[in-house]
Amino acid sequence: SIANVQGYEIIDSRGNLTVRARVTLESGIRATGDAPSGASKGTREAVELRDKDGSVKGAVDSINYYISPALMGLDVREQGKIDRIMIELDGTENKSRLGANATIATSIAVAKTASISMGLEPFMYIGGARTHTLPVPLLNILNGGLHAGNMLKIQEFMVIPVKFDTLKEALIASTKIYKTLKSLVTERYGKIYTALGDEGGISPPLSVTEDALKLVHEAIKRSGMEGRVFMGMDAAASDFYNPEKGVYEIDNTSKSPDEMIEFYVDIASRYPLLYLEDPFEENDFSRYSELQSRIKNVIVTGDDLFTTNVRYLRKGIEMKSARGVIVKANQIGTLTETIQFFDLAKDNSIKTVVSHRSGETEDSFIADLAVGLNSDFIKTGAPSRGERTSKYNRLLEIENEFGLEYLGRRL
Ligand code: PGA
Ligand code: ZN
Repeated sequence: SIANVQGYEIIDSRGNLTVRARVTLESGIRATGDAPSGASKGTREAVELRDKDGSVKGAVDSINYYISPALMGLDVREQGKIDRIMIELDGTENKSRLGANATIATSIAVAKTASISMGLEPFMYIGGARTHTLPVPLLNILNGGLHAGNMLKIQEFMVIPVKFDTLKEALIASTKIYKTLKSLVTERYGKIYTALGDEGGISPPLSVTEDALKLVHEAIKRSGMEGRVFMGMDAAASDFYNPEKGVYEIDNTSKSPDEMIEFYVDIASRYPLLYLEDPFEENDFSRYSELQSRIKNVIVTGDDLFTTNVRYLRKGIEMKSARGVIVKANQIGTLTETIQFFDLAKDNSIKTVVSHRSGETEDSFIADLAVGLNSDFIKTGAPSRGERTSKYNRLLEIENEFGLEYLGRRL
């Protein structure tokens, strides 16, 4: 049973403070869980408690003074009960009292501690007896938006290694494309422009979407991967939407929502686009539906649209807004609620994308979460920077040890 939960501050990949929780059992077994942190957050996300000075002391206090006493003596394997206690203790709609950073760090630490106490890999503990599969990675190799210093409005340009027999081959192909992209940028703009964005992607001095798409496509072709590796984008469109004027400010111009639909349809017709996340601002459920019906082969995906919250996913299902969902545990604040959201998506044949945040730690838990739940995809940045590679390397470790099926072939 749980002896205590300790919260403390650690540093994330952007140099900000974030929360780590450590669960210790009576037996002495213990494990930690970290809260990641977003930059382009959805407005409906659970609240990350942050003090005025930028610290997370308030969230750490939530763990030490409220959560720890409430969980003392409980069986660590009772994840559902533990998460429910934290939800009730918080008592708000959006975890604004305890802080979702406090509750998610604790929730993850609880799951990891339970898996150790049972002698199970975390993915096995999460997924139970079902046969596990390895998700297809969405690798963000070119960064824009709030994650980079350039003028690109689209936040992420991804490569998706599909036609490979193993995850290892898929990741090696992706590293090749990543390095080819770096060479292309060096040739065209100079080495000084190969600086990395927050998620490890290169952030060249571009301002127009088309130029970024061309670069990534060329990197795929030059690496000999055309036809095996596809492209994806996360527009994170709420961040360049002007609500007063009702327009999107992109590519040095303003586009109406209808013009944005044509913009994406055109891109999908000229590039091997498989995945498109948050193409519109987070309230425009009906434009998502319209776009998805126009580009049926592309997995239009909701991140800020749903914020890992079943309430908004139900609306999205009703309106047929998206064929895909982003699953970010810290958007909702507990693992139990995250898995409920995941299951609702699966039950409705919606593709799942277990995802990191732009502010991350070296905790590789989401790799186990993705495998444990048999997620279709995992989104965890470029194949560089330790907080991104920790997830890829954990997936490689799982594949190496357990030889699970790579889902790329089934797509
Ligand atoms: P965030 O962005 O973690 O900065 O919110 C990631 C995303 O939009 O997918
Ligand atoms: Zn997103």
